[in-house]
Amino acid sequence: MRPVTLRSARVLLDVPTRADAAAITEACQDPDIARWTTIPTPYTAKDATTFVDALVGPGWASDREYTWAIRRPGSTWLEGVISWRTAHRDLGFWLAPSARGTGLMRDAVGLVVDFAFEQGAPDVYWECYAGNVASAAVARASGFSYTGTGDALVPARDGSPVPAWKGLRRADGTAASDLAWPAASLGGSAATGATDEQRGGGSPTPRR
Ligand SMILES: CC(C)(COP(=O)(O)OP(=O)(O)OC[C@H]1O[C@@H](n2cnc3c(N)ncnc32)[C@H](O)[C@@H]1OP(=O)(O)O)[C@@H](O)C(=O)NCCC(=O)NCCS
Repeated sequence: MRPVTLRSARVLLDVPTRADAAAITEACQDPDIARWTTIPTPYTAKDATTFVDALVGPGWASDREYTWAIRRPGSTWLEGVISWRTAHRDLGFWLAPSARGTGLMRDAVGLVVDFAFEQGAPDVYWECYAGNVASAAVARASGFSYTGTGDALVPARDGSPVPAWKGLRRADGTAASDLAWPAASLGGSAATGATDEQRGGGSPTPRR
């Protein structure tokens, strides 16, 4: 498929290019992105160009992984990245620290989920390494049902299994589960123990 642009009033999703390498490199210095995803660490400018050349373009061309740059309408600056992988129908995403707390990712997830449903996907899968309260908040706010905790699809950088919170959103609008979200995923003091204990994670997020 050729790259598709998606937009809402607050966010524009289009294809990342080499012109985004500086923004990607800058964002991927963030310890939280390194902690909760499996991007290379340390992250260099070469990693960003490899991401654009080897993952983004071929991912669209092969229909394996659709990756978008997250931008604010009217701006060319890349604020984050979101991708949807077709094999497991799973999402991955990150935002630069300066772009957080404004609902950009919730809009981006909504657009990509709608896109996936338009492509005929019966559901979209989300997971994060257990303890990633910010990612779980986005999934919860985006209508995902919590379906349980288990080994992440994407293992840690060293290949070892990592516990993940998992969720599903169905195209037909029915809840995928009636399980309650873990208390530790709800933020506040309930989350502190899990967050501190369960470091070193990654997620199904863009990896180069
Ligand atoms: C996960 C991550 C993308 C979430 O970013 P975020 O800024 O919290 O997400 P959003 O852009 O959707 O913003 C939501 C926040 O903006 C606030 N917000 C402000 N205005 C808003 C609006 N108009 N609409 C919706 N939310 C709004 C919300 O209240 C919410 O804050 P809250 O969680 O305290 O309630 C970010 O923390 C990140 O990149 N982390 C590191 C990488 C990572 O963990 N990736 C996911 C791996 S699974």
